[in-house]
Amino acid sequence: MTVSNVAELLDSGIILQEIHIKGWVRTFRSNRFIALNDGSTIKNIQCVIDFENTAEETLKRITTGAAIAIKGTVVESQGRGQRIEIQVSSIEILGDSNPDEYPIQPKKHSFEFLRENAHLRMRTNTFSAVMRVRSKLSFAVHKYFQENGFNYVNTPIITGSDAEGAGEMFRVTNFEDNKAPVTEDGKIDYSKDFFGKETNLTVSGQLEAETFAMSLGKAYTFGPTFRAENSNTTRHLAEFWMIEPEVAFMDLDGNMDLAEDFIKSVLKDVLETCKDDLEFLDQRLAQEEKSKPQAQRSEMSLIEKLKFVVNNNFKRVSYTEAIDILRNSKPNKKKKFQFPINEWGADLQSEHERFLVEKHFKCPVILFDYPANIKAFYMRLNDDGKTVRAMDVLFPGIGEIVGGSQREERFDVLVEKMKALDIEEKELWWYLDLRKYGTAVHSGFGLGFERLVQFTTGMSNIRDVIPFPRTPQNAEF
Ligand code: 4AD
Ligand code: MG
Repeated sequence: MTVSNVAELLDSGIILQEIHIKGWVRTFRSNRFIALNDGSTIKNIQCVIDFENTAEETLKRITTGAAIAIKGTVVESQGRGQRIEIQVSSIEILGDSNPDEYPIQPKKHSFEFLRENAHLRMRTNTFSAVMRVRSKLSFAVHKYFQENGFNYVNTPIITGSDAEGAGEMFRVTNFEDNKAPVTEDGKIDYSKDFFGKETNLTVSGQLEAETFAMSLGKAYTFGPTFRAENSNTTRHLAEFWMIEPEVAFMDLDGNMDLAEDFIKSVLKDVLETCKDDLEFLDQRLAQEEKSKPQAQRSEMSLIEKLKFVVNNNFKRVSYTEAIDILRNSKPNKKKKFQFPINEWGADLQSEHERFLVEKHFKCPVILFDYPANIKAFYMRLNDDGKTVRAMDVLFPGIGEIVGGSQREERFDVLVEKMKALDIEEKELWWYLDLRKYGTAVHSGFGLGFERLVQFTTGMSNIRDVIPFPRTPQNAEF
């Protein structure tokens, strides 16, 4: 059997066999023991050097961060902490790493420091684990949809339409600095720009995905989306990845079922495929919890939390019921909410969402039937004339992880809605066409992939679950 990396080696059970392995030195102690990591697993392999027969010059170059190639024999380990180790017969230094300069020293670094060294942070246990889990999660996402008859659709990244109607878009233009032509009334003349119209980076692929639902039946997107909202929080990015399924002939109940089944399936998947990494992250979080006051500690470990979500039903509650609960809640009466809930119609803030999930229901919650005027134009109006068939899935520690709705499929109602919001028909003529030719009930949702990775890995800041975060004032790397 040949093994090509440390993960395979540890899985293989081979012993007394000659192997070649390449990786980066994590630590080198007593001039004898190299902890080697090649990124294939959270686990290091211990490589034991015969230092008496190794040149002094070579020994000096075995430093934290150096890339090395090892030849040696797999033997049972004499020491504690590992089952096997490699008795090194030859070592080659592939790339030196100056120990006085290498930022990733074998000690605890703050996440802030590691963010500034995002190009190297995947060489730490925590970030390598997070990024492997992220990779497995994205595969689980595709697997779920592909196995359930969905078509993967690549919606445009540059777009002329504002899918959410919230105006939080990044402009895409080819005009040179200060040389944009202007119209007679002094506005920038985008008809002369590259695309002949105003264009932006997309905030969501939903509107285009709807065209696929209304032709192929079931579709999903999984791509980058962009929001120019100036929110400096632990849950917002200016560039994030969104998963947006869209299904014809499915109503809001079906949409809630789909969201719940989908989330449970992908979590179940990574509980199996990412055991070692999740165990490591579980322990990391347990350490972090220990440093908090008792009252603020989480009742469940990371893995317990994941299993809890997989094994329990999400609680489904209407917006109206939720407002009643919040209005009568202790923090509201004691004026502990920053935004008190006094009346029906208020938009929920994350403090309210978290109260419902973490304190009141103590499980994931799906809120539905929101007031029309706090939700996007495309959501289906209920018969009461004031609520829409919207849903948000709320998660502990995260708040909103999914936002979705049944779409307004009635041409006249949609046109009315757009008029009221000053959205021009000619901007979305193609979207309206779907309501003219063979319209039908259809629904979908968007799940913020980074929020899912956050929940799965227990990382508290969203900047630490995407390789190179884009946030206000930051686009390094
Ligand atoms: O609720 P949102 O804005 O919904 C939409 O964009 C719909 N078009 C989706 C659909 O129905 N197809 O965003 C969906 C999800 C949120 O629930 C959240 O998880 C995530 O996207 N999200 C963000 N994640 C990170 N940073 C941000 N700035 C985010 N904004 C939204
Ligand atoms: Mg939302």
